[in-house]
Amino acid sequence: MSLPLDVLGGITAEQFLAEYWQKKPLLVRNALPDIANILEPKDVLELALDENVTARLIKQKDRDPNQWSVKTSPLLKADFQKMPKLWTLLVQAVDHYSFDLSEFWKQFSFIPQWRRDDIMVSYAEKGGSVGKHFDFYDVFLVQGHGHRRWQLGQMCDAETEFVAGQPLRLLPEMDINFDEVLAPGDLLYVPPGLSHYGVAEDECLTYSFGFRMANVTEMMDRVADKFTENPLLKNPLLDIIRKHVTPVGQVTESEIEYLKEKLFEQLQNSTVIEDAIMSVMSESKYPDNIPEAEEIGTGDLEEALDQGYQLMLEPASRLLYTEQDGDILFWANGEGLCISDEFAVHLKTLADGQSLMLDETLYDADILEDIAMLLNESILMLVPTESE
Ligand code: SIN
Ligand code: CO
Repeated sequence: MSLPLDVLGGITAEQFLAEYWQKKPLLVRNALPDIANILEPKDVLELALDENVTARLIKQKDRDPNQWSVKTSPLLKADFQKMPKLWTLLVQAVDHYSFDLSEFWKQFSFIPQWRRDDIMVSYAEKGGSVGKHFDFYDVFLVQGHGHRRWQLGQMCDAETEFVAGQPLRLLPEMDINFDEVLAPGDLLYVPPGLSHYGVAEDECLTYSFGFRMANVTEMMDRVADKFTENPLLKNPLLDIIRKHVTPVGQVTESEIEYLKEKLFEQLQNSTVIEDAIMSVMSESKYPDNIPEAEEIGTGDLEEALDQGYQLMLEPASRLLYTEQDGDILFWANGEGLCISDEFAVHLKTLADGQSLMLDETLYDADILEDIAMLLNESILMLVPTESE
């Protein structure tokens, strides 16, 4: 049995998963008090103007707040001129830019990394919101700076209708059954499909720790890519044994069966399917945000051994593994990795979110080569121990 977690208000991860996860909301006061001062509104404004950032500026007309507009990134200073009274700035993947913020993912390690999406921040002044809506998304909303009033309503689904003619998928109404103001450090878990409406009470920053959900189309797409990469599968299939003459326009049942069989034979090939699934799941949401690494060689690493450095996951990258019959296989940022057996056990602990001291125990040619490759690919990063 696991321990009660402060981030979940004193319940265990198992209790949370059984009673709340994907089922009902959970409000936790003072869940992450240390998040309050990580960013200030001016930091978010500055970040929104970075040309590589994914951001949206949402405005409501002063004359009619039911008229919305959305400007997507790249955002320019001019977009912030002549602002209406009600507006919200949304910036995605802030965890790729703030290492301190990305460390807060550790508080949610009861949900595996492959389900993580990113941390979005919303910035608004009094009255600002993104409207009444729902997402097919699990999200922990955590209040940073300032206060936000959250109202929750009915469950919605693919059939739910939206307000016509607006650039956002807004709900015409909400049956409110929850109404609370969140202060810095407070957390609200919102399950997929639950309608929600968050309005800034003052100048406020809200973090959304979002979790992606897999979908079959995306996986199918990648499965198809993996098969098309195999030139052998381009070979023509020999004809089915042809005993009778059949009507010239018909494809017979046995012919269809034969072709399907050939297709299913390949689909049964589980290494390709697993490779496809793992490639999709290990893809970074914003691959363009992965920082370019400074080239490092095994010689540099050898010199750095025992010099007070540690290895960590690069927050913008994604590293996952599978383990079967003692074999550990790794994928990162959409690709399979080739890792020596000696380093695999260490890399597994890194993928599980721990850091690893760069010391004598890693003095091995294969291991140092693996580390250099992972650093050069920006999958891992090397940080001085005292910066922890
Ligand atoms: C917000 O923080 O204002 C938007 C987050 C959400 O509704 O998912
Ligand atoms: Co939402």
